Amino acid sequence: MAASFLRNCWYVAGWANEITERPLVRTICNEPILFFRDQDGAVRAVSDRCPHRKAPLSSGFIEKGEITCGYHGIRFDGQGRCVHVPGGLSFGSTFAVRAFPAQQMHGFIFIWMGDPAKADAALIPDFSENEKPGWVAVRDMLPVACNYQLLADNLLDLTHVVYVHKTTLGGSQVTDTPLDVTVDGDVVRAERFMKNVDTAPIYKAARGLDSKIDRWQIFEWRAPSYIKLTLGARAAGTDLPYGTPVHRVLNALTPETDATTHYFWSTARNWALDDPKVDAIYFNMTVEAFNEDKAIAEQQQRYIASDTSGAPLIAFAFDKAGQSARRILRGKIEEEEAAPLARAG
Ligand code: FES
Ligand SMILES: [Fe+2]
Repeated sequence: MAASFLRNCWYVAGWANEITERPLVRTICNEPILFFRDQDGAVRAVSDRCPHRKAPLSSGFIEKGEITCGYHGIRFDGQGRCVHVPGGLSFGSTFAVRAFPAQQMHGFIFIWMGDPAKADAALIPDFSENEKPGWVAVRDMLPVACNYQLLADNLLDLTHVVYVHKTTLGGSQVTDTPLDVTVDGDVVRAERFMKNVDTAPIYKAARGLDSKIDRWQIFEWRAPSYIKLTLGARAAGTDLPYGTPVHRVLNALTPETDATTHYFWSTARNWALDDPKVDAIYFNMTVEAFNEDKAIAEQQQRYIASDTSGAPLIAFAFDKAGQSARRILRGKIEEEEAAPLARAG
C-alpha cells in the first residue's frame, strides 16, 4: 500500500534556478509535477498527467505561460484551466489539469500538495540563510532511494557521525554525550554540547582547529521533514559563545515516492564569505558525508523492505528526537486523513 504523506504543507520542489525558460518535471509525493514560469516569471505547478489521456503534458511545449500537451495538442493555462482543444471542440468548465500552489522563497521553489485554500506562505520554513545578506551557502540535491523518514532519523541522531563519517564529521566522543531533546508543540529541538573532545576533520580543515575542541550540535525539526542543524566548535576552553553557528546545515527531505527522496541540503556560514577555498571544503566534505548517509540509508531501506520477520524497529535513547518527529508527523497525517472533505483531490 502506498504511504500516506502530509498534504497540507509546503515541500521543497527544487532550487529556484532549476526552473528557467525550461520547465522541470519532478515527482513529489508520488505525483509527477510540471513546473514552469508564466509570462511574469511566477512559478506554476500542475500535474504532468494530461487530463485527456494521461500522457505527459511535458512532452509538449510552453508558450506565453500556457502549456500544450505533446500528445493531442490540448492547451492549459498556468492555473490548469483548459483554454483550447484542437479542432475547436468544446469542453466542460471542469475539464482542467490539477494545479498546485507554488512559491519561490529562500532560493527554493516550494509546492503545496493539499487543499489550495489552505496554502499560506507564512507556513514556509525559515531557510533564509540560503540567501540572507551576511551568509553564504554551498548546496546540492541528492537523490536517495529510501523513505524520507529514514533520512530524518539519520539527521536527528548525529551519533552516527562517529561510525559513518569518520573522515569528515566524526570525532570520537560524540556518542559519550547524550542528546538533550525537547518537544515544543510541533517542533522537535535537540542539542548536544561536548567539552574538550577530539576535533573533527571538518573543523580541522575549515577552521584550523587541530587539537581539543568544545563542540555543539543544535537540531530543529519541523513537519513534514525540515531539519535545521546549527553546528559549531571552539578551541577547548576558549570563549566563543556556546551556540554560535560556525555553520548551519539546512535540510529539506522531500518525498518523491514511498521509497525515494529528493534530499535538498545547503551548508551556510556567516564567515569567510568570499573564500572559495572554504566553499570547496564545505561542499566536498558535505557531499562526501551525505553520500555516506545515502549508502547506508539505501541499504537500510532495502533490508526493511525485504524483511519478512515482522520485527519492529527498536528505539534507544539516542533515537528520541527522530521518534518524536515521527510521532508528531503521524499525528498530523492522521488528523488530515480524518477530515477527508478538507482535502483537495
Ligand atoms: S493526452 Fe494530452 S492532449 Fe491527449
Ligand atoms: Fe550523516
